[in-house]
Amino acid sequence: MRKILVTGAVGQIGSELTMYLRKKYGDDKVVAVGHRTQPSEKLRNSGLFDFMDCTNIKQVENTVKKYDIGTIYHLAAVLSAVGEKNPQTAWNVNINGLYNVLEVARENKSAVFVPSSIAAFGPDTPKDNTPQDTIQRPTTIYGVSKVAGELLCDYYYLKFGVDTRGVRYPGIISYETLPGGGTTDYAVEIFYKAIKNKKYTCFLKEDTMLDMMYMPDALKSAVDLMETDPSKLKHRNAFNVTSFSITPRLLAEEIKKEIPEFEIDYDVDPEKQAIADSWPNNLDDSIAKEEWGWSPTYNLRAMIKDMIEKLSEKLKKQ
Ligand code: SER
Repeated sequence: MRKILVTGAVGQIGSELTMYLRKKYGDDKVVAVGHRTQPSEKLRNSGLFDFMDCTNIKQVENTVKKYDIGTIYHLAAVLSAVGEKNPQTAWNVNINGLYNVLEVARENKSAVFVPSSIAAFGPDTPKDNTPQDTIQRPTTIYGVSKVAGELLCDYYYLKFGVDTRGVRYPGIISYETLPGGGTTDYAVEIFYKAIKNKKYTCFLKEDTMLDMMYMPDALKSAVDLMETDPSKLKHRNAFNVTSFSITPRLLAEEIKKEIPEFEIDYDVDPEKQAIADSWPNNLDDSIAKEEWGWSPTYNLRAMIKDMIEKLSEKLKKQ
């Protein structure tokens, strides 16, 4: 078996996807690469780790050749809120980085998984039950880069036969590694604050509805899609996937059932609120269900119970 490369491996999804892939395919089969941040001991000690700048095509080429990479999970990206602070960097990493990965994949006959996002939709998109194929006119640089990325991945498949696949992730909730500056980050922060301080000040309005997913389902969706018989896939890239749609108020109410003293208040960040308001309330993920059997394991309650249990254990050890 040729090896698997995970870019953005020190990030929220990458750090857990690396471990998930190592468990499934073997520790020596998965190469984790980060940009600059030092990896956790767990990540470094469980298998191969290297540094790589995806905006430098030579570095991408050297890594893919050095480890004989057959599949790339390309997770390195600048998220929505951080992207608005520095759109030029977001474009460079999200577009030029992706282009480099696709070019090297083409030359080395590697398959590529690239996550898109709910951010690939915009204010003109139907907000409820957002279809798989619909209007995509996002208003953030992150969203623009995600739509361009979806199209570029389609193009590399159609033109060059590169085996590109991807899902549109909603906000991902997890306890292992913090997210790196997205608009949906409140749904992670709220758990840290609920456990530590019993109080959270949310940067989005209480009724802001967004799609979310618990990390185990995000990992499963990526690997299940990559394992699917390609003849079943009509939409290769950018499948809508979701687990539940929530507002900060609803999430707080549900957390209160586990931590009764918990209180939430609001100090709205207008920039992040504008981003959230431009995204769908809830996605229709029936096409992913149809084409490759997508089905989430965790509903809202199951996620909350597991998240509070696991994060409490982790915070006790710190
Ligand atoms: N979680 C991401 C963000 O908020 C959405 O893909 O930027």
